Amino acid sequence: LTGGELLTLLEQRTAESAEILRAAAVETARKAFGNRVYLRGLIEFTNYCKNDCYYCGIRCSNQKAERYRLTPEVILACCDAGYDLGFRTFVLQGGEDSWWTDDKLCSLIAAIKENHPDCALTLSIGERSRDSYAALKQVGADRYLLRHETANACHYRRLHPPALKLENRIRCLYDLKDLGYQVGAGMMVGAPGQTLANLVEDLQFLQKLQPHMVGMGPFLRHRDTPFANEPDGSAELTLYLLSMVRLLLPKVLLPATTALGTALEGGRERGILHGANVVMPNLSPADVRSKYLLYHDKLATGAESANGLAQLRRNLQAIGYEAVVARGDAPTL
Ligand code: 5AD
Repeated sequence: LTGGELLTLLEQRTAESAEILRAAAVETARKAFGNRVYLRGLIEFTNYCKNDCYYCGIRCSNQKAERYRLTPEVILACCDAGYDLGFRTFVLQGGEDSWWTDDKLCSLIAAIKENHPDCALTLSIGERSRDSYAALKQVGADRYLLRHETANACHYRRLHPPALKLENRIRCLYDLKDLGYQVGAGMMVGAPGQTLANLVEDLQFLQKLQPHMVGMGPFLRHRDTPFANEPDGSAELTLYLLSMVRLLLPKVLLPATTALGTALEGGRERGILHGANVVMPNLSPADVRSKYLLYHDKLATGAESANGLAQLRRNLQAIGYEAVVARGDAPTL
């Protein structure tokens, strides 16, 4: 579709058009993945961050955030526990924490891959140099999540302090791809200042980048950020965009995100029923889970915890899907 046509789809969104896209997206996902849903064990291993993104609860100027940093031993134990539960992908996500140098990260990655050679390891630790990405890849990192947040430079400046540049974010994504990572980009839906035309730019950027994964959830405000009084993004529009992304990138790995699960009762299942095919339950220790607060009222219990995994499996089964024990690599590779 042309940009104009994508914009029309967004502007003329009705219950009827949503249902047409939804049904087509589910069918497309079924062709690529059957009724299989991939599990990723999310380990939020540090909430220290040197950045100051206006939307994010762990931005460096939020003095109220209780900072923590998991030790390598605790992280390895999380992976062991996750492995026993059937997880074959671990996602190490954190703020941009300078304590975690390349050397420390490399030792950690090597240890995880040594303990669990049959598992995929995903990193989500922000912007780094090409050399750093290369070093982390060399010791065993397989995938990298780095949302582009918005493909419009002007909107990017509305969401981030001047030190962060869209240009560098995009450089990172292409470096990661070039180095052989399976790469995930994505955006928040309903971020302050976002227009439907911006979302078209996001979709066209995704079409151009051809990422292996797309992470997308509604913007949800956090009380201790400059966006405390901004309205939350729409869960319904997020679902619509999940369907659009599934149709634009038929084989992409597309999680039903925690933010969607937080915004909407049964949001994770509804995400799957709109074309998503990945869920990422939290494997972080319970005592730190409540500290990794990117936004208000983030889901941290129930099916979101590994303990709730059995419940999550049942919920998926109830809508005709099966959570599988598999690495779940991108089929395009
Ligand atoms: N609401 C929703 N998503 C958020 N993120 C950060 N802050 C928020 C928020 N307030 C998302 C960003 C980031 C990912 C890890 O979490 O898109 O890339």
